[in-house]
Amino acid sequence: MSDIAGSTLYALREQGVPVLPYYDELLQHACRQCSPLFGQRVYADIYHEAAADPQWLAISLITNAEREGDGATRLWSLAACTPDADQAGQIRQHAIDESHHSRAYIQLLDMAFPGAVDEKLHAELLSLSPGYSRQQAPQATPGSAFAHAITLDDLIQMNIAEIRTRVHHLLQRPILLQFCPAYSRPQLARILDRLLYDETRHIAYTARLIEGFCGSGEAAEARKLLLERMDDFDAITRQELELRVFE
Ligand SMILES: [Fe+2]
Ligand SMILES: [Fe+2]
Repeated sequence: MSDIAGSTLYALREQGVPVLPYYDELLQHACRQCSPLFGQRVYADIYHEAAADPQWLAISLITNAEREGDGATRLWSLAACTPDADQAGQIRQHAIDESHHSRAYIQLLDMAFPGAVDEKLHAELLSLSPGYSRQQAPQATPGSAFAHAITLDDLIQMNIAEIRTRVHHLLQRPILLQFCPAYSRPQLARILDRLLYDETRHIAYTARLIEGFCGSGEAAEARKLLLERMDDFDAITRQELELRVFE
């Protein structure tokens, strides 16, 4: 996992995303300069150590559900305020995906740790998802810091966040399968496959939009921002690691 740019680009190619001349180079450059902690062996080792505790793992699934729900809400505001219909449509789909993911994490909790939460708490956990669907039109949350048209900076931050989320999936997968009772394992694997597919798709569409900005004369700005935000994410990852939070 140490070549985070290489493994991410490989996953994009596997999903049929063509070479993106600007984006691919910018990502490789930023990862070479910053060498983010979430792509390093030591990070995976600390994750495995923490995740050996089933209680920690169960709580981390709940944290994932909460963050996916929050992410969906932010994206919903961005989608509502982005005037370009094509961009807005992609962000809207992203919000719907993350809204589904929030519930998927509770399903994973149910399968890997049956009976871990009582009915009342279970209902509360399901409500962590805003429940967005294709039938709904995005609306901005009043006062949200995300009630604005999407920017290159937003896309870069989303892209890096999705790359890190993908790393977490890859770390989480074998451990969840191990804890899960054998009868639920095939269904659990299917949910994990879907999550991984979606998160890779989120890296892909943000990468394509970043590529578009670069092609319209913003390549130098994108290069600067990607490196800056990779450093910011690395600092956040280091702080979260102290708290044993992986998201
Ligand atoms: Fe997600
Ligand atoms: Fe995502």
